[in-house]
Amino acid sequence: MIKWKEEYKIGVEQIDKQHQKLFEIANEAYELLKNDFCYDKFDRIIEILTQLRDYAIYHFKSEEEYMLSINYKGYPAQKEAHDSFVDKLNAVKLDTIDENQNQYILELLDFIINWISNHILGSDKLIVSQK
Ligand SMILES: [Fe+2]
Repeated sequence: MIKWKEEYKIGVEQIDKQHQKLFEIANEAYELLKNDFCYDKFDRIIEILTQLRDYAIYHFKSEEEYMLSINYKGYPAQKEAHDSFVDKLNAVKLDTIDENQNQYILELLDFIINWISNHILGSDKLIVSQK
C-alpha cells in the first residue's frame, strides 16, 4: 500500500491534487500486482505504469508553469530534477516487462513513489515557503 500523507501537502491546491493523483495511480498498480487471484494482469499493470509516467510528465509541466508564474528562484534546479527523473522513467522499457518480472515491477514502483515523496518533501515544499 502506497500511502498519501497529509504532510505531503505543500499548500497549493492544484499541485497537491496532482501529487495525490500520482499516489492513487501508483497504488492501483501496486494493488493489482499484489492480487494473486487476478490472472493476465500484466497488460493492465503496464497500462497503469504508462499512465503513471504520462501523468508525472503532465504534472511536472504544470508545476513548472506555476513556479514560473510566481518567479520562483529555485525553478532551474526543479526543472533539472524533473527532467532527469523523466529521462529515467523513459529509459524503462515497459513493453518488455513480462510476468516473470513481478519483483522488477515492485522495485520500479518503490523507486517511483520514493522519488516522488522525497521530491515533494525536499523540493516542492520550498516553492511555497520562498514565495
Ligand atoms: Fe517538483
